[in-house]
Amino acid sequence: MLGIRRLKIEEKSAILTLGRQIFREDDEIPLLRKALSQCVPELSFVATSSCDNTIVGFVLVCKEATKYYYDFMRKIPNCYELAFLGISPQAQGNGLGTQLLKHALSAIFKDSTDFTCWLLVDTINIGAIRLYEKLGFRRWYETTPCITPCPGYIMGISTRKYKELYINTTDFTTDLHTHVLDLITNPVLVC
Ligand SMILES: CC(C)(COP(=O)(O)OP(=O)(O)OC[C@H]1O[C@@H](n2cnc3c(N)ncnc32)[C@H](O)[C@@H]1OP(=O)(O)O)[C@@H](O)C(=O)NCCC(=O)NCCS
Repeated sequence: MLGIRRLKIEEKSAILTLGRQIFREDDEIPLLRKALSQCVPELSFVATSSCDNTIVGFVLVCKEATKYYYDFMRKIPNCYELAFLGISPQAQGNGLGTQLLKHALSAIFKDSTDFTCWLLVDTINIGAIRLYEKLGFRRWYETTPCITPCPGYIMGISTRKYKELYINTTDFTTDLHTHVLDLITNPVLVC
């Protein structure tokens, strides 16, 4: 059984250890350290195994960006960075990435009903891009080597799209119910 719950501050070193199995040491791990130091715990979540409480995935959300790739990003009001989303290689493909991302977006929407959330993803990371697009993110910019070491997309979602996908659906009651449950149930069992 796996569960999703809010990040606890004392779990940061366990997340860094897991992150080292998932992300590149040279350019991503320094950013992961930064994200861990400035992420907002109320907006960041972990996926844990219920047998031994091991962390198998995490999503980190920051209000102050880990890095500003373009000047315009400093000027976006109510801006959030989805700084890291990572699932242990053994736990990938079970819907955890989707669940963590939905929890983060739901928490962001609770924090600000007029938000923009962005992220950076490598252009070759097809799986992650598919996941982000499925949950409503759109490609804003393709970065060049002077901006990021690997070609990447800056992707984003704002309130309008979030509401369209998660709030203003025909199945409004179920969606809102899920949204509220996401926020009050701790932990939430996902499989
Ligand atoms: C990307 C990542 C977070 C996805 O998490 P996950 O739990 O494996 O993903 P899910 O099981 O929730 O899959 C959701 C959707 O993502 C897409 N997807 C995920 N992995 C994929 C892959 N290897 N190939 C193609 N599509 C993939 C699919 O559209 C999938 O939906 P579907 O199963 O209905 O087709 C995870 O694989 C991971 O941690 N990868 C390494 C780190 C990373 O790339 N992080 C993102 C950096 S920006």
